[in-house]
Amino acid sequence: MPSNKDDGGWKSFLWNSEKGEVMGRTGGSWFKIIVFYIIFYGCLAGIFIGTIQALLLTLSAYKPTWQDRVAPPGLTHTPKSDKAEVAFNLNDVETYVPYTKALKEFLTKYDDEFQRDQMKFEDCGDEPGEYKNRGDLESDVGVRKACRFPRSLLGPCSGIEDREFGFKDGKPCFIVKLNRIVNFRPKPPASNESIPEEAQPKVQPNIIPIHCTNKKEEDAGKIGEIKYYGIGGGFPLQYYPYYGKLLHPQYLQPLVALQFTNLTLNTELRIECKVYGENIHYSEKDRYQGRFDVKIQVNSL
Ligand SMILES: *[C@@H]1O[C@H](CO)[C@@H](O)[C@H](O)[C@H]1NC(C)=O
Ligand SMILES: *[C@@H]1O[C@H](CO)[C@@H](O)[C@H](O)[C@H]1NC(C)=O
Repeated sequence: MPSNKDDGGWKSFLWNSEKGEVMGRTGGSWFKIIVFYIIFYGCLAGIFIGTIQALLLTLSAYKPTWQDRVAPPGLTHTPKSDKAEVAFNLNDVETYVPYTKALKEFLTKYDDEFQRDQMKFEDCGDEPGEYKNRGDLESDVGVRKACRFPRSLLGPCSGIEDREFGFKDGKPCFIVKLNRIVNFRPKPPASNESIPEEAQPKVQPNIIPIHCTNKKEEDAGKIGEIKYYGIGGGFPLQYYPYYGKLLHPQYLQPLVALQFTNLTLNTELRIECKVYGENIHYSEKDRYQGRFDVKIQVNSL
């Protein structure tokens, strides 16, 4: 007798009580499939985790291996605005307060009182000197001392006497630093060849020179004298290398202050500053690599 075997093909597919099958397979068969998938994905996850672990082990705790690849340092300045434009009216305090405030805040960490601790800081001289080797990155010396950088080195741009940083007189100060790169030793230019003529006298031992000039031809002669303050008017080598956040927590970057002492008023001027060195390069894509440019307009009306 043809029984009611096919009276529910679908139903018996889901659960075939005769053969003890679920969805066409026996419980044992399903069990094998599930176990197979668990093992399969387990292994996949294992390989994945293992790879990441191995990768992490090869990375040193102190040396940011990936960062080394972006070695050419950025050159950044304070004050800075989104549009790379600093414009103010020397007769209107409100227009330059944001800039002087930014300078004050930036310089706070260079206050003498933060650099007193003899265990954490040392004097490295106020003349350009050679690289300060503080042992291998990997050695067990631990935390390294930092060179002091007193604000007073920045002269009239230190904010100590002139709390307005020259803005009130239409002689604004800018403070410039080279961004930190762990274990990077900037090399001074080997020769005067690739340096613009007016910057050549700044090529001296143990210093990374910085030079600013008009970016556009038409601004030639309108920028006036720029004064440079700091150690040797550039970035002195005794502040390098930097050992990273963990080993060099007190590290202070050397600073250069620029003072534009005779800008043509009521005119937008485009100024470019560049640092020069054998291992300092510029990039079309990154406008802050080894240089920056800024539009400055001082109004007096
Ligand atoms: C570059 O020129 C300046 C002055 O012209 C000089 O003092 C300096 O020693 C020169 N540097 C090199 C590396 O030639
Ligand atoms: C300032 O610049 C003007 C030209 O823009 C020049 O005539 C004047 O002599 C300069 N002043 C000083 C002190 O250099």
